[in-house]
Amino acid sequence: MRVLVLGGGGREHAIVTALSRSHHAPEIFCSPGNGGTAALGTNVSIPEDDPVYVAEWVERNAIDFVIVGPEAPLVVGTADILAADGVPVFGPKAAGAHLEGSKAYAKELMERHGIPTGRYRLVQTNEEAKEYLDEVGAPVVVKADGLAAGKGVTVAETVSDALGAVRQSLDGHFGPAGDLVVIEEYLEGPECSLLAFTDGDTVLPMIPVQDHKRAYDDDKGPNTGGMGVYAPVPVVDEAAYAAMTSILEKTVAALKSEGVVYQGVLYGGFILTADGPKVLEFNVRFGDPETQVILPLLETDLLDVMMAVTEGRLSEVELAWRDEVALSVVLASGGYPGTYPKGKPIRGLEEAGEIEGVTVYHAGTAMDAGGRPVTSGGRVLNVTAVAPTFIEARDRAYRAVDAISFEDMHFRTDIGLKAIRARGEA
Ligand code: GLY
Repeated sequence: MRVLVLGGGGREHAIVTALSRSHHAPEIFCSPGNGGTAALGTNVSIPEDDPVYVAEWVERNAIDFVIVGPEAPLVVGTADILAADGVPVFGPKAAGAHLEGSKAYAKELMERHGIPTGRYRLVQTNEEAKEYLDEVGAPVVVKADGLAAGKGVTVAETVSDALGAVRQSLDGHFGPAGDLVVIEEYLEGPECSLLAFTDGDTVLPMIPVQDHKRAYDDDKGPNTGGMGVYAPVPVVDEAAYAAMTSILEKTVAALKSEGVVYQGVLYGGFILTADGPKVLEFNVRFGDPETQVILPLLETDLLDVMMAVTEGRLSEVELAWRDEVALSVVLASGGYPGTYPKGKPIRGLEEAGEIEGVTVYHAGTAMDAGGRPVTSGGRVLNVTAVAPTFIEARDRAYRAVDAISFEDMHFRTDIGLKAIRARGEA
């Protein structure tokens, strides 16, 4: 079986690693891939924003199954074109991907179907924004409607900050993605993500996971794509898990009732409020770095699950999970999430990977002319440790982090502390 994975981050290295354990023993291609995926398959270069080219490449190279990692190729209809060619593809078609491609669409869908989320207003002018903000005050969350590479969300403490964020968006800071703006109620509580596999009918939730979006310890500094993550999430009790699962089920059913059969991963970003979980956002794919702790704990063959999704027989599948925890620390380039240099030699990967329970997923890495790993992105490596307890997982992960170095490497030192406290491990 020949499988193509689109994407080149830590998420895709984790997917490729899980595929390499599959009993189907697939031959794996990854585009663009990274230094880690190159060791498990063949990195290729296919323009991911060109679905027609992707489909031609898939046909030319006799690919049997395609897995789409990031949202952008899904939003432009890669799954639609491949499916029309009869190629099984893991990831929703454009109509389903719109759930991430337009925050306004997601909010309106939730409103139509009574799915719990914060109050909101859509605005297209500064005047509309002022009128609404005069009514609701601050704090509020201001979001560009479309895809903005994770940068289109501002938590505004004051009305003036909120108006500034709206103006920035309407002025074209995020391109056309910011022409429509969602102003949303600020909700309080711990954040948690629950991802589920779905074939459009059956919804199989994974384990809950908690990302750390801010760049620095104690949730300080600018937002990033995610600086660390752990799973499961001790503050999620059975009631919260059931409520989040029910929201995901309701969302898949809502889409279906409006003619959208959603297949792939549905990622619910939740906030656990005093009134129960509410949806902050939906993503239409695996999270990054969430996948780097979910898949190491998944015992079920990932390719079997994905094939069941595309064949509409997910009801036959039961997910099995290791009775352990996982934690991942993101090692970033100096300057990230702003500008950063590339091409810095990375040392210590072998030593780190030898620590019990540790896997180092590559994200922004490449190989230099001599075949040595160098940095090539903002988030460079995801150091993941699996262990029976969070204390042990933290110890393993940070020992591995200590073994790795590259110039101006930065990372958070507090990943997993919340879980340790919540579980009463210390
Ligand atoms: N870590 C957040 C995301 O994947 O969207």
